[in-house]
Amino acid sequence: KQPHIVVIGSLNMDLVISTSRMPKLGETITGQQMHTIPGGKGANQAVGCSRLGAKVSMVGAVGNDSFGKQIISQLGNYGVDVHPILVSDAPTGSAIIFHTPEDNCIVIIPGANELCDAELVSNFESLIYGADLLLVQLEIPLNSVYTALKIAREAGVCTVLNPAPARELSVDLLKLVDYLTPNETEFELLSGATYKSEDDLYAGMMKWQQEYGPKLFVTRGKNGVSYLLDGSLRTVDAPKVEVVDTTGAGDCFNAAFSCCLASGQSVADAAAFAVKAASLSVTKFGAQNGMPSMEDMRNA
Ligand code: RIB
Ligand code: NA
Repeated sequence: KQPHIVVIGSLNMDLVISTSRMPKLGETITGQQMHTIPGGKGANQAVGCSRLGAKVSMVGAVGNDSFGKQIISQLGNYGVDVHPILVSDAPTGSAIIFHTPEDNCIVIIPGANELCDAELVSNFESLIYGADLLLVQLEIPLNSVYTALKIAREAGVCTVLNPAPARELSVDLLKLVDYLTPNETEFELLSGATYKSEDDLYAGMMKWQQEYGPKLFVTRGKNGVSYLLDGSLRTVDAPKVEVVDTTGAGDCFNAAFSCCLASGQSVADAAAFAVKAASLSVTKFGAQNGMPSMEDMRNA
C-alpha cells in the first residue's frame, strides 16, 4: 500500500549563488552564476517523499507572488498535494545560498513561513489523523511544530522531526517525537556538548536518548548516519560519490527515511536506504532536483 505522509513545514525560493569558494568576512569575490529554484526544508522533504512513491500532503504558507506560484507549481509537478498550502499576503520565504562544490552557507528570510501557525496546522487535524507518518522541521514557528506533533501523537501517527535549523527544544515537544534526525552540529546544540570521537558521540547519544526519548538518527554528511540499536551504536557508511551540491542532502535523508518507516520497514533498512538516497542527491544540483526516484535508487 502506498504510504501517506503529511509534511508540515517551510517553502522557500532558493537564490543559489555558485562560487568556487566561500567569501571571507568583509571580502568581495566574483561568483559564477545565480539560480532561482524552489526550496525550503519542508517543500524539499515533500518532493523527496513523493519522488520515492509516497502520497504526500504539504501544509505550509507562501505569498501571493511569483515565487509562491513557482514553488506551488513545481510541487504540483512532483505530485505533491498542494491544497493545504496557504497563499498569504506576506512575501514568500526565501533563502540566499552560497554554494561551492563542497559546501553551502544559507541565510533564510522566513516571510510567509511565519504564517504557517498553530491555527493553520489545526485546520488539518483530520489530514494528520489519516496519515501514516508526520514529517516536520524547524523553519516554521515552534508552536506550529508542537501542535502538529501533538495531533499526530493523539492520532497514534508516527512522527519524525528533523530539528533543522538548530533551535532549542522543550522537553514537552521532544516527548511527542518518535524519531529525531539532527545532523552532528544540531545534535551538539541539542545536547549542549561537543563530540570529538565516535565513542564520545555514542556516549552522548545514549545519555540524550535515555533522558528525552526520541530515537536518534544523527546524520553525518559523508560519514553516513549513526543510531542506537539494541544498546550499541550502528553507523551506516555513505558510498563515495562525486559531489555537485550538498543542499538538500539532509532533506533527502529525512524523506527517504520517512518513506521507509511509513511503509512499515525496519529502522535499519530505513537508515540504509536513506543514506543511499542522500548520497545520490548530492550528485545533482539543486535541493528538489536532486531527489532520487525509486528507479534511480534501483539503478544506483
Ligand atoms: O535544506 C536546504 C534548504 O534549507 C534550502 O532549500 C533552503 O531553502 C533552506 O531552507
Ligand atoms: Na542536490
